[in-house]
Amino acid sequence: MKLPPGMTLLSPDDRSLLLDIADAHGTPTYVYFGRTVEERIRQLRSHLDGLPLRLLYAMKANHAVPMMRTMLEQGLGIDAVSPAELAYALAVGFPADRVFFSANNMTDEEMHYAHGKGVLLNIGELSRLEAFGKAYPGSEVCVRLNGQVGAGHHEHVITAGEKSKFGIPVEQIETIHALARQHDLRIAGLHQHIGSGIMSTETLWKAISVILDASRSFDQLRFINVGGGLGIPYRPGEQPLDMTSFDRLIVAPLKAFIASHPSSNLQIWFEPGRFFTAESGVLLARVNTVKEGTHRTFAGTDSGMNHLVRPAMYGAYHHVVNLTRPDGPERVYDVVGNICESSDFFAKDRAVAELREGDIIGVLDAGAYGMSMTTRYNMRSEPAEIWITQEGSTQIIRDRLTLDQLVEFALGAR
Ligand SMILES: Cc1ncc(COP(=O)(O)O)c(C=O)c1O
Repeated sequence: MKLPPGMTLLSPDDRSLLLDIADAHGTPTYVYFGRTVEERIRQLRSHLDGLPLRLLYAMKANHAVPMMRTMLEQGLGIDAVSPAELAYALAVGFPADRVFFSANNMTDEEMHYAHGKGVLLNIGELSRLEAFGKAYPGSEVCVRLNGQVGAGHHEHVITAGEKSKFGIPVEQIETIHALARQHDLRIAGLHQHIGSGIMSTETLWKAISVILDASRSFDQLRFINVGGGLGIPYRPGEQPLDMTSFDRLIVAPLKAFIASHPSSNLQIWFEPGRFFTAESGVLLARVNTVKEGTHRTFAGTDSGMNHLVRPAMYGAYHHVVNLTRPDGPERVYDVVGNICESSDFFAKDRAVAELREGDIIGVLDAGAYGMSMTTRYNMRSEPAEIWITQEGSTQIIRDRLTLDQLVEFALGAR
């Protein structure tokens, strides 16, 4: 039986811890429960047990230092998509051979930088593969394929298929081989990532099987990276990814594939972001204003789309709870932010335990693509960030910027 999102996360003790954090550190604040991240890593690993496996973490989901350190301690590698992500992963302590560089539409400068750092490049454009071959003949490289099967929770997060900018179409494999021969490149890996928030194991397998088929014409492969994309349940009652069918439809065929593959040391890589971190995070905000409109009641908070853009960008659902008085009678609200945009909302027409001015709300399952997608729009600071260790102690990751700091930044002084 699946519990609603946040129910496993938010015990009464957790709620009072979150209220204490809001009291001590103010709002808006992101809080991450380290125990949830470790649990999700353990869970995925247990299902992939028996596969020659490497797990990477797609750090774009959330690059808070303790999140990164957890991944490092748990033995994961990193999927980095920009030079700064790469440099930061190395600075956190990831060895270069555990970092995978997947920038799309890479520049020459980025290519030289990443290669110079000793990390493996993942290339998704023929012209870039050619440039890499000319610059570094005899090197290893990974190729990102577009197997023409895309999926995701919203059109904007689908990263394969005929409309997608990502990857080299699988139909162009002969050109990949030709370039590899011409420049003596060793294609050490094949990669794909078909989208994000995928709940269908059938679709995942459909995409994976395309890349497995394609792999048969590559004879120097060390790994096949099947990407991330594993979804999580955001709505109450929504089913999580069906891990029984994951075992049956994905893990078992992958094991059979590996067993029949001529290469004796071929690994399978996965690189989730959301699956590891989304459920660990809560965005705390304070209700500043409760306003009765003519047709709806607005609960206005001190946060907004600048801090969690997913509702505005994708119409994404995040469960909202009243942490201050969780047992009040439910009323229907538009829970909105303080940004000057009409797309600035966390929830619309949503039943929440009655909200009063001063109450603290928790926006749940906000640990992925929350803080990492914040902006300072309207010259408002990013939220503070707090980490709760496995043992339950609290660490400040970062504070909000002060008004003076924001002004200095705008003046160009920072
Ligand atoms: C190349 C790549 N790998 C992995 C991921 C992680 O996706 P998710 O968070 O859905 O697992 C992304 C997300 O955009 C990505 O672009």
